[in-house]
Amino acid sequence: MQAVATTSVMPTGAALGAEIRGVDLARDLDGETFRRIEDAFNRHGVIFFRGQDITVGQQIAFARRFGEVEINVNTQACLPGHPEVLLVSNIRENGRYIGLADAGTTWHTDMSAYACPPRCSILYAKEVPSAADGTILGDTIFASAAAAHDALAPETRKRLAGRRSTHSYLAKMMARKEAVGLTREVTPEHLAKTPPVAHPVFRTHPVTGRQCIYVTEGECTGIEGMADAEALPLIAELHRHLIDPRFQYRHRWRVGDVLMWDNCSCQHLAVRDYGEGQRRLMHRVTVNGSVPV
Ligand code: OGA
Ligand code: MN
Repeated sequence: MQAVATTSVMPTGAALGAEIRGVDLARDLDGETFRRIEDAFNRHGVIFFRGQDITVGQQIAFARRFGEVEINVNTQACLPGHPEVLLVSNIRENGRYIGLADAGTTWHTDMSAYACPPRCSILYAKEVPSAADGTILGDTIFASAAAAHDALAPETRKRLAGRRSTHSYLAKMMARKEAVGLTREVTPEHLAKTPPVAHPVFRTHPVTGRQCIYVTEGECTGIEGMADAEALPLIAELHRHLIDPRFQYRHRWRVGDVLMWDNCSCQHLAVRDYGEGQRRLMHRVTVNGSVPV
């Protein structure tokens, strides 16, 4: 058990994100410490803990405090023997990537083309790439979908209130291929599990009740009851607005970081500014969520 008094929440000063200090995730968290962490998570959308040294079991146990852990459909990208741990990595072994090499390389929120997307995703940084001069590479940029919603023009909010947009997994993968050239194999089994799904354009956060922009350019192929000629420019406009730097926090990784994000209140982008020889390895555990409303 850890003393509650040692836990502190340090907001990044950006539109979202906070560092949690004084917590060792290798130990069991008492109820009060967990409550503070969960509260910071709901409030800040992204939280991170530096300098952690945890086992696979400890990362899974921490994730379970937030809900049921999901088993990713990309089983070939999971840690052997641990289907709860998805490897996000550019490392190749025996001629193939050990995990997902293209994860997050276009703006998105995780698995939003699913009927019931995850509440949160938790990344544990095992290897972080750097340039020859020591500059850290492979940052992740987060954007507050809640702050972006609140800053929309009232006419735009009114025009889109109550509307639903269609999310397509295939469209997302095609957009990603176009943007970064690489992509995982999209299997017929995977496609069968992810038929296009409609979600609210503005999603209500299940805990805070805040309204969040839940539209992703590329993945969203239309808005129900609206002609594409009107819907597609609106989707593009929402996207451009959401990724405005004033809504962002950019995380510069260190080995030992445990960082988690809220898949309702933010979107994120993996910055692919490193090459094949610069190894990056993240262990991701994902927690199930609720149907967007
Ligand atoms: C993910 C993801 C970002 C990164 O794992 O869902 O988007 O920087 N990762 O690895
Ligand atoms: Mn992601």
